[in-house]
Amino acid sequence: MIERLPGFRDFYPAPTPDPDAWSADLRGHIFETWRDTARRYGFREYDGPPLEPLELYTLKSGAEIVGQLYNFQDKGGRDVALRPEMTPTLARMAAARERHYRKPLKWFAIPQLFRYERQQKGRLREHFQFNADILGEKHPGADAELIALLIDSLRALGLTAADFVVRLSSRNAWQDFYARRQPDPERAYEFYQAVDKLEREPAEVSRARLAALGFALEEVREFIASAAPTPELRQILDDLAARGLAEFVRVDYGVIRGLAYYTGPVFEAFDRRGEFRAIAGGGRYDNLVKLISGGRVDLPALGFGMGDVVLSELLKARGLDARAGTAALDGFVLIEDETLRHDSLRLVQALRAAGLAVDHPLAPTKPDKQFKRALEAGARHTVRLERTPDGTLRARVKTLATRTEACLPPAQVAARLKAGSGTQPSADRSEPGPG
Ligand code: HAM
Repeated sequence: MIERLPGFRDFYPAPTPDPDAWSADLRGHIFETWRDTARRYGFREYDGPPLEPLELYTLKSGAEIVGQLYNFQDKGGRDVALRPEMTPTLARMAAARERHYRKPLKWFAIPQLFRYERQQKGRLREHFQFNADILGEKHPGADAELIALLIDSLRALGLTAADFVVRLSSRNAWQDFYARRQPDPERAYEFYQAVDKLEREPAEVSRARLAALGFALEEVREFIASAAPTPELRQILDDLAARGLAEFVRVDYGVIRGLAYYTGPVFEAFDRRGEFRAIAGGGRYDNLVKLISGGRVDLPALGFGMGDVVLSELLKARGLDARAGTAALDGFVLIEDETLRHDSLRLVQALRAAGLAVDHPLAPTKPDKQFKRALEAGARHTVRLERTPDGTLRARVKTLATRTEACLPPAQVAARLKAGSGTQPSADRSEPGPG
């Protein structure tokens, strides 16, 4: 048997074969919630290629992500990489076509990303990431709008202020702190990386890293503890408070972000109990579009990425994964009398055309096996055609939850299933019953 690669996932339909297996239904539920929330905030969907020129990432993402690239030479001798993040692709796309669109751009995507990371809880070699970005707006109102979208996409999945918090920080605040003690601007990113790792590395490792840059661990910790919002962060907090979202955010300079391109406010979302890695992270990157366009296009930008891995773990831990449900059938058409197969197939297709989810036995099958399959599929109704002595077709519709049965002309089955499934009958779809 050929095993799948380490750090990659199989997604099975729910109920999954074992509790640790990844559920395609949960993934679908998360994607739908992300899309729906982005739509409610006026974001438009975009996408790009999963394979990009290597150079797109070596330019500005930073050493950490470049060390994790899946890269190779293609058959044309080009150096290429599977996308480890979406932001450089977005910057490339926006730089190429921004003049076609009115600013600010509010765009989102749900790409699959690839990073050759050391496998650990919450970090795999492939993940899906909800990316939402605003391009062409300098005002902190845009930062607040993005953070509000982040909060609402988690709330729409059932998480509350007791479950997660957005830790808000600022590269500008850290830049000022850095410049007061260290005159070499070339080493600023090295310093940001040391701060980024403070919570994940032993204190002695951090102490040595910081000392090499001329900083004491204690003064860095003191600055984090001060948590005094800069005027820009104050504006973002006030905006979020006006939206009734104050309880979801706090200033926390312990966050600085690992990627190299951030320039202003930055933030990360974490579970309150601190059991998981970051749920999401983002911030302002006002210089990236200019850099990627070789100086031709200058667009301020900001955004965040939210991965499906930590999020799924958190939803499972809080019992919120069950909301995904399984895709139940509205009806299962039993074919117990094979002379009625063609009439039954006509009915199956008519019900599907009416928007109902319907299945049936593909080959002659014993009645009890058909019924078991209907139950396993979570069908709300079974439907069985029969011929009356005068030769007309009737349909027996059984509602499985209540065990009630009705005998109807086939043309009325769709309406009956819709009434029993909460699906709205739609006026524009005809329901051509069989026979
Ligand atoms: P990031 O912090 O590298 O940011 O990733 C964002 C989120 O993606 C993380 O908080 C985490 O949930 C998830 N994630 C990242 N790496 C992995 C992994 N190996 N396995 C599972 N989940 C992972 C970015 O990627 C930025 N490009 C986000 C952004 C968009 N900034 C501005 N716009």
